[in-house]
Amino acid sequence: MSSTRTSTDPRLPDPTAQAWQAFQGGRRRGRTADLLALEDFEAAAKRVLPRPIFGYVAGAAEDNQARDDNRRAFEELALVPRVLCNVAQRQQGVTLFGTAYRSPFGIAPMGIAALSAYRGDLVLARAAARAGIPAVLSGSSLTRLESVMEAAPGTWFQAYLPGTPERIDALLQRVAAAGVQTLVVTVDIPVAGNRENNLRSGFSTPLRPSLRLAWDGATRPRWLFGTLLRTLLRHGMPHFENSFAERGAPILSSRVQRDFAARDHFDWSHLEGIRRQWRGVLVVKGILSPLDAARARQLGADGIVVSNHGGRQLDGAVAPLRVLPAIAEEAGDMTVLLDSGVRRGTDVLKALALGARAVFVGRPFNFAAAVDGEAGVDHAIDLLRAEVDRNLAMLGVNGCAALGPQHLFDRRAGWALGAATGGQRPGG
Ligand code: GLV
Repeated sequence: MSSTRTSTDPRLPDPTAQAWQAFQGGRRRGRTADLLALEDFEAAAKRVLPRPIFGYVAGAAEDNQARDDNRRAFEELALVPRVLCNVAQRQQGVTLFGTAYRSPFGIAPMGIAALSAYRGDLVLARAAARAGIPAVLSGSSLTRLESVMEAAPGTWFQAYLPGTPERIDALLQRVAAAGVQTLVVTVDIPVAGNRENNLRSGFSTPLRPSLRLAWDGATRPRWLFGTLLRTLLRHGMPHFENSFAERGAPILSSRVQRDFAARDHFDWSHLEGIRRQWRGVLVVKGILSPLDAARARQLGADGIVVSNHGGRQLDGAVAPLRVLPAIAEEAGDMTVLLDSGVRRGTDVLKALALGARAVFVGRPFNFAAAVDGEAGVDHAIDLLRAEVDRNLAMLGVNGCAALGPQHLFDRRAGWALGAATGGQRPGG
């Protein structure tokens, strides 16, 4: 795409003003008024969601080592501010694949979000569009892709590869016909992750009707009436709508089998085939090795998401932040994005300083939708945006592109060689 489109709506309040309002505090009303940071949404959502649904969203794989290390990787980096930089004109917008966004973060794809909140996929996509940030619709979603694209036309779509070339072709045709411009292909799921926590919390896909499940639902009446029954009454039984060109399995079924396409036979040749067929932007999600980043670049990917799937696939997989610098070096012209563990504005800026152009955040936005629908997601976006704005100012930079390793100090290793001055002469 040659020209830069913008998703900025001039009628929206200036984000700096929003940041100031958030800083002043106390003006918000509603269910999320006392939620002050993204992490706050988890406890609030736990009170709203039935145990299996909350467990599915919050949980990761096996011993949660990958999920926990995602946070530790951010904590191990300290920030090094510059002072007296006149940051009055700072702005946090970034351009991704020719589209200007108002913040350097977006909403990650999350399966079955329509079980966390009524019309959850639409809630996330609309809130993101209004805020001028990207949102990615999951291939494991319960709302037809076409409806989401109609409600929020700039939404990105994330696909898991269906098992055969014919089914891949058919899905790509459907995705293109729906008006998707940015396709994200997730490649870290040759087999399903070991989600023991799902078994422990009673979650399965499809959900198996049982007394236990009925009890879990009955103890969360707001969710039961506001999300589940409202969905069933207005839209019927939710199905996996976007795994293939055609409709998939229902979410609640005594026939416990889901269309899990066999994916362990996929290799780079399949991605090459997709690159030949897909004329829009192609992003490969789930890269952790610089060797794979180089491979993605060679086959013509436009971008990659450095990601360990929020710790939900290979437990013990390295935290994306730790491999980001090495991957950014291999990326060439590709746009490098990152997800997994981003919870604060400072995390966003740390990832940007190490070479990401933007980051994606998952669970907190899902919880925000569960707690207060679109208003909840608006609030979560405002909080993170205000943090980014405030932190840019205190770091002494006017925009995301000015961030670099000179702003980071590794608590264990100190400065990387040459990073302390970011290539500038001290005193300059
Ligand atoms: C789906 O991608 C999941 O992580 O549950």
